[in-house]
Amino acid sequence: MNKLYLWGIIITAIMLGATYYTVVLTKGGLNGDIVNMLAIAGAVALVIITVFVVIKYVRQMQTDTAEGELADESWDNIGEYKNPVPMGWAIMFLGTMIWGMWYFMVGYPVNAYSQIGEYNEDVAAHDAKFEKEYASITGDRLVEMGESVFLAECKVCHGISADGIDGKAANLNQRIEEKSVKYVVEHGSNSKLLGTEMPMPDRNGLFNANSGALITDAEIDTVSKYVAEGFPANDTAGAEVFAGVCSSCHGADGRGMDYVAPNIREFTPALVTNVLTHGKKGVIGKMPAIDRLNAKQKEAAAAYIISLSKGE
Ligand code: HEC
Ligand code: HEC
Repeated sequence: MNKLYLWGIIITAIMLGATYYTVVLTKGGLNGDIVNMLAIAGAVALVIITVFVVIKYVRQMQTDTAEGELADESWDNIGEYKNPVPMGWAIMFLGTMIWGMWYFMVGYPVNAYSQIGEYNEDVAAHDAKFEKEYASITGDRLVEMGESVFLAECKVCHGISADGIDGKAANLNQRIEEKSVKYVVEHGSNSKLLGTEMPMPDRNGLFNANSGALITDAEIDTVSKYVAEGFPANDTAGAEVFAGVCSSCHGADGRGMDYVAPNIREFTPALVTNVLTHGKKGVIGKMPAIDRLNAKQKEAAAAYIISLSKGE
């Protein structure tokens, strides 16, 4: 018998033996399971086919001789036959290139269906319907709507009664806390409270027009208390510092000026909307922008917050 076939039979026997050993002797047999049997039959067939296909090609390599015309190029004496490109291969190659261009320019699924796309479209359609339906809501109903927005989106941080949960977020029952005013006066503020970038300078940019000098520590304490307590009429010391340092931007009564400085006496719809749109960073912490709310929902949240500090 041909030596090659003999080796083939030996290798087949070794591999089948190894399969038998692994499966039947160490894994506890086939247990009469049809799926196990099929898998083993498949493995046996694969072993036999592999061995004899390999034998076929080894024999072919042993007996084949080269024929055909060599191309002119020679790389270290290794040549190349002049074979015509097989037609089927050429068609597939060109076809793939054309398909590739089509896929790159037109077929790439940017415009095709996607779950996220469908969700976004649904949300947009719903928002449009919602905005039309609720556009005319004002007054008490707007405040009620704001309360539901607040309970859904804001109470996790600000607390169910909007008190800021022991200082974790701003207490929205008052316009601003003393420590927040103090922090802003010392460090400045750049939170787009007016809707655009319009920073307030830190203490090195705050002059007291009455004394002609930079604001002092004592004046900062006095004016912070004055602002946080809501501009009490009997606090003349506070009023004096405010008039000297702050009123040029925030207005004589602290109600702010368009494009110059925000209202720091009361919440306004514009201020709350800007905080919701841009987020806010201060001494208490960082509030993220709440992007999921539409304009009407922001307006409603503002109405609710304004109603709180009025004590309604
Ligand atoms: C040069 C103008 C200017 C002066 C003077 C000024 N501010 Fe401001 N202030 C601003 C601007 C502008 C902002 C908004 C900054 C922002 O977008 O974050 C602001 C913001 C604030 C805020 C933050 C409000 C909030 O909702 O968090 C407080 C508090 C404040 N100012 C208090 C004062 C006090 C108190 C003084 C006087 C000691 C003062 N400011 C003087 C321009 C000024
Ligand atoms: C992830 C927590 C978080 C959520 C959610 C959140 N806030 Fe805030 N909010 C804060 C923190 C923290 C501050 C204080 C920032 C600072 O240090 O000035 C704040 C401050 C504020 C202020 C005061 C801004 C000023 O000018 O001083 C308003 C108004 C406000 N939030 C409204 C809302 C509303 C309305 C919602 C819901 C739509 C909301 N917040 C949701 C954390 C949050």
